[in-house]
Amino acid sequence: MDEFFLGDARAALRHFLNEGRRAQLCYLDPPFCTGRDFRVYRDRYPSDEDYYAMMREVLQGAYELLTRDGNLFLHIDWRAQARLRLMLEEIFGAAGFRNEIIWSYRSGGRARTHFSRKHDTILFFAKSPASYFDAMQDPLPRREARGGHLKRGVDEDGRVFRAVRAGGKLYRYYEDEGVPASDVWTDIPHLQQLDPERVGYPNQKPLRLLRRIVRCASRPGDTVLDVFAGSGTSLVAAHELGRAFLGADSAPEALAALQSRLPGAPLRLTRG
Ligand SMILES: C[S@@+](CC[C@H](N)C(=O)[O-])C[C@H]1O[C@@H](n2cnc3c(N)ncnc32)[C@H](O)[C@@H]1O
Repeated sequence: MDEFFLGDARAALRHFLNEGRRAQLCYLDPPFCTGRDFRVYRDRYPSDEDYYAMMREVLQGAYELLTRDGNLFLHIDWRAQARLRLMLEEIFGAAGFRNEIIWSYRSGGRARTHFSRKHDTILFFAKSPASYFDAMQDPLPRREARGGHLKRGVDEDGRVFRAVRAGGKLYRYYEDEGVPASDVWTDIPHLQQLDPERVGYPNQKPLRLLRRIVRCASRPGDTVLDVFAGSGTSLVAAHELGRAFLGADSAPEALAALQSRLPGAPLRLTRG
């Protein structure tokens, strides 16, 4: 059954491990070490070292909770991504690295003192070469993925394609067939202030972003783990897509947000 642990991420991981729970996919969107207070949680630590020590424990715990063929996605920004990538390479081994996904967006102000920082980084590590992944589970429309430099044509069934000749062969790309996404995501905007998806939780991520990760990196029936669940976006995506979930957050507002997004769904609740 889906489970939520109200308490610290490290205690949640110990609890799930002790219960013998395991997950095929872990998505983590931790505090980014901004030094700021958000309405329902503080992103401030006595020193950066305290933040990295906390993250090491969480990443190690998440690694242990993943099945042998599990995948982990760590959503972070320019502040901590370099050190956390090295930490993930220590834990998963350098061979576990799959992608540094750039989630590019336009929202927010513009800087003059440096180029405006307009992306988050999502680090994707796999626990084994056998870990499941299929980018075609969330394909992009071909129109969005390819420029107009290829020759347009229509076949005998009326299907529109683009064609290119390479190495003596003619390649046809049908516009109604999707293409796998690259590691630069420009097609998913940040939630706008008045977006109906918003539940009023700070730093809420768009469902579309989480649907892509859940669809491509897990199968129906798998379990998704997120111990910095916030408003529960990854857990809602998991639920919608027929995956089970193990969620946690230290803020009671996170549990309230999840319950408002999944009204009536059975949930086992543990308080840390
Ligand atoms: C960036 S937000 C997650 C947002 C979420 N992905 C969403 O879409 O709503 C980070 C979350 O981590 C939680 N958090 C911070 N430190 C924590 C800790 N040590 N243990 C558990 N949760 C923590 C905060 O309460 C906050 O909800």
